[in-house]
Amino acid sequence: MIREVRREELSACADLIRKSFQTVADEFGFTRENAPRFTAFATTEERLLWHMDGEHRLMYLYEEDDGLCGYYSLLLRDQNECELGNLSVLPEYRHRGIGGKLLQHAMKTAEEQKCTVMKLSIVKENTVLRKWYEGYGAIHTGTEKFDFFPFTCGYMKIMLQETAGMDFRIIEGADQINIDEVVRLLKTTYWANNRSKEQIRKSMENSSCYGIWLNDEQKLVGFARVISDFATTYYLADVIIDSDYRHRGLGKLLVSHIVSQPEYTCLRGLLLTMDAHGLYEKYGFQTVNGRAMVKSPDR
Ligand SMILES: CC(C)(COP(=O)(O)OP(=O)(O)OC[C@H]1O[C@@H](n2cnc3c(N)ncnc32)[C@H](O)[C@@H]1OP(=O)(O)O)[C@@H](O)C(=O)NCCC(=O)NCCS
Repeated sequence: MIREVRREELSACADLIRKSFQTVADEFGFTRENAPRFTAFATTEERLLWHMDGEHRLMYLYEEDDGLCGYYSLLLRDQNECELGNLSVLPEYRHRGIGGKLLQHAMKTAEEQKCTVMKLSIVKENTVLRKWYEGYGAIHTGTEKFDFFPFTCGYMKIMLQETAGMDFRIIEGADQINIDEVVRLLKTTYWANNRSKEQIRKSMENSSCYGIWLNDEQKLVGFARVISDFATTYYLADVIIDSDYRHRGLGKLLVSHIVSQPEYTCLRGLLLTMDAHGLYEKYGFQTVNGRAMVKSPDR
C-alpha cells in the first residue's frame, strides 16, 4: 500500500533512504569520505523535516504487512514542473515491482497536481537505473559534474499528461517484441503493408528494435527500429503507433526515447517520411530537399 508519510515517521524514512542508497554507494565505491553529500550519507531526519515543512514536498511510503519498504518525495516547482526525490526500495524488497509502483504513483500524483514535466537526477554511471527509468518514458536531458561528488549527475525528465493514465513500458530488443504484433502494426502502413512476415523477422533481427507495450491491454501499440554502424550514421525506420492510440503522445515518446539514446546522439540520423515531418523536426531532423537520393529495390 502506498500512503502519505506521517511526521513521526521521518526518522524511519531517513533510515530507509540511507539503507536503500547504500547499495548504490557500494556498487560505485562512494564513501562518507569521498562523497559525504551522497544520499546514503547525507539523509537525516532534520533534512526530511525541511523537505516536509520548508519545501512542502509531497512524501509517500510503501508499506507491506511486515513494515515500511519504499519511499519517494515530490517537490512541486513553478511552470508545472516537479522533481522526484529519493525514490527508494529497501534491498530485500527489490525486483518485485515496488519501485515501478512508486514511480507510477509519483507520475499520477504529479499529474493530479497539474504538472506536465517530472524531473529527476541519477548517478550518470548507473546505466541499469537509467534504462529502468527509460522504460517508463524518461528521457536523458543532460549531465553535470560537481566538485563535491565523485560521479557525474545525469538528468532525466518524464513528460506527463499526454500519456496520463496509460500503463505502458518501452521495451527494447527484437527478442522482447512479439513479431505477430509488429506484423499487425506494419500491415496498416503505406510503406510496409506488403512485407512478408519473414522479411519483417529478418529486418527485426538485424536492427535495434523498440516498442511500446500497454500493460493493461497486453498489446504492442508502438514500434520502431534503427539500423546503424554505431560510428557515423543511424537510420530510423518503421516508426508506427497503433491508429487507436494516436494523438496521445506515444509517437513523441518513442522518437524522443530513441534519439536520446547515447549510442545515437553523436551520429547523423536519417529517415524517410511522406507526412510526419512535424514529428521528427521536434527532435532535430531537417528536410533536405535536393540532397537525399533513394534507390528502389530491383524487381
Ligand atoms: C531503483 C529502485 C527504486 C527500484 O526498486 P525495485 O522495487 O527493485 O523496482 P522494480 O521491482 O519495479 O524494478 C526492478 C528493476 O529495477 C532496475 N534497477 C534499477 N536500479 C538497479 C540496480 N542498481 N541494480 C539492479 N537493478 C536495478 C532493474 O531493471 C530491475 O529489473 P529486474 O528486477 O528485472 O532485475 C531500487 O533499486 C532502489 O531503491 N535503488 C537504490 C536507490 C536508487 O538508486 N533510487 C533511484 C534514485 S534516482
